[in-house]
Amino acid sequence: MTSTSARTASLPTSVSAPKTSFAYQAHSYPTKTPPEAIEPFIEACSEPGDLVVDPFCGSGMTGVAALQTGRRAILSDLSPGAVHVTKGHTQSIPSSGLADALGILDRRWMARRELALYGATCPTCGSAGTARHTIWSETLTCPHCAAETVLFDQASDSGQIPRTVSCASCGNSIIRAGAIACRSVPVQITVECKGGCRSLQTGSVSGGDARTIDAQGRRRRRYWLPSDAVGSDREMYKRSALHLKGIATVADFYLARAKLALSELWERISRIEDARTRGAFRFAFTNTAWHSSRMRRYNARGGQRPLTGTLYIPQLVAEANVFAVFRNQIRQLGRYYERLGVVADHTVDARVGTATDLDWLEVGSVDYVFTDPPFGANLFYADCNLVWEAWLGETTDSDKEIVVNRSRRPADGGKTVSDYGALLAASFVEMRRVLKPGGLASVVFHNSDDSVWTAMLGAAESAGFVQHHVALLDKVQRSMKGYKGRSGRERVPFYDLVITFGSGSVERLNGAGELAVQIIDDHLADLDRSGASAGDERRSLEYLYSLAVARIIGRNIVPEGLSYHAFEAICNTRYVRSGRFFDTV
Ligand SMILES: C[S@@+](CC[C@H](N)C(=O)[O-])C[C@H]1O[C@@H](n2cnc3c(N)ncnc32)[C@H](O)[C@@H]1O
Ligand SMILES: [Zn+2]
Ligand SMILES: [Zn+2]
Repeated sequence: MTSTSARTASLPTSVSAPKTSFAYQAHSYPTKTPPEAIEPFIEACSEPGDLVVDPFCGSGMTGVAALQTGRRAILSDLSPGAVHVTKGHTQSIPSSGLADALGILDRRWMARRELALYGATCPTCGSAGTARHTIWSETLTCPHCAAETVLFDQASDSGQIPRTVSCASCGNSIIRAGAIACRSVPVQITVECKGGCRSLQTGSVSGGDARTIDAQGRRRRRYWLPSDAVGSDREMYKRSALHLKGIATVADFYLARAKLALSELWERISRIEDARTRGAFRFAFTNTAWHSSRMRRYNARGGQRPLTGTLYIPQLVAEANVFAVFRNQIRQLGRYYERLGVVADHTVDARVGTATDLDWLEVGSVDYVFTDPPFGANLFYADCNLVWEAWLGETTDSDKEIVVNRSRRPADGGKTVSDYGALLAASFVEMRRVLKPGGLASVVFHNSDDSVWTAMLGAAESAGFVQHHVALLDKVQRSMKGYKGRSGRERVPFYDLVITFGSGSVERLNGAGELAVQIIDDHLADLDRSGASAGDERRSLEYLYSLAVARIIGRNIVPEGLSYHAFEAICNTRYVRSGRFFDTV
């Protein structure tokens, strides 16, 4: 194995994650790190054929990066949904096989069923066609005259609804926030016309179509649909105000027609004999189910989709044609597998399990870890994944989820920042246990709450990890100047960082320490103190560290040895400290 310093020397100082990554095509997942951003780390820290591990694998992007660089991978996540997505991303079947199976499904059943469920009148010429999207709008009851007002009628051209709408009947104002909708009605339809019109035609829903949609709502379902409870104690239930949307179970995330279409499609997929094709179709299905839910927002400019990382149900919903979405998913998956290439069996293993106990891995058996742990109270994967995980019949054990969860009391599974830190520390201990001597672990740190940041660094260091290298992860390819400070007041960089840890100690500071001092001196001198409170975040240790690292990297210098603790030690000797804050003498 090459020496630690040789490996860290070849690590990139900054990587950008292309928004157009091929890996975005197949299945959505909150906070994906595309493989293109992971590959340089794997290449610097391991050899072809080596074993790479990611215990918080999410959608499996570390596995994809391992495949692209000729490594093996063992991936795990607490969420069965994440493991399902990981498997879908890291196996491959020939795209011709997918297309054939889709053709059979269409001929035997789907095309016919689509016509029955989504047949619609072209709003332009009146010919028969198929509905692509149907826009549903909530209606509000006027508190003054009790008449019903359709929100869609008050939306701007871009689809925005003002905070206050005026009653269609008496003209009085109705404040939208908190007003309980009386019902949802179909207000607009986009139809693929089978008559004379060539392109998709958009217009109002015909009376006949409205009656058909209404009748579908009363039709009996023949097949199973998940009915897992969505408890009001879930953080995302509260944050997404689901009590206003009548959500009690997962089934309530779907409109009547989607319930019929999805339950039948899921049943048909389960009848596919070839296990690999069935697996790929299930993979395409869970993404279809997510896109076919009431979370799919209407966007007048196109590109309707649910908001990733939430369970938010908008007031204007763009109901998709389940079968059209599914066909599109299968085609995209075919393109994805073509790009991925053939994957030999057993190159990637994925399993459900908590990162705090990696008992499927032996001591000293792993060459490299690349991982992106959950970040505090940013995202609640167990809640977000539930809606499509329920289809798989297996949902996340949220008691073990590593989050800061304030919506529950500690006795009911709530977790404080210190609980979060303790669980992460246990995960870092496991990573160290399974790594070979001298092996490195690269960890993604998202920019977020300072206390979470500190908890995460503390957890790594308490497990005996030492920082060897820091790199910037630019997920959205914004220009350096485009970054906003956490306070939102100043345009300073708070990047996501990839910190590479190892064992031993790092003595040499390669001038990064002196550079950091210069940067912080200038920053503190420039700080406008008028009206600033004693606890100005821009003087906090976390802020100063992030600033120093970002600026040093901005000059194309690797801040070697400039760990959080080394930086803190420098600040302690050079500045006046008061709690977490520093100032010039
Ligand atoms: C930031 S995401 C990883 C996303 C990943 N970078 C990707 O590209 O898709 C963090 C993951 O940690 C998982 N997680 C939360 N608690 C966990 C635990 N105790 N053990 C293992 N995984 C956990 C979540 O389910 C989530 O998938
Ligand atoms: Zn037409
Ligand atoms: Zn009124």
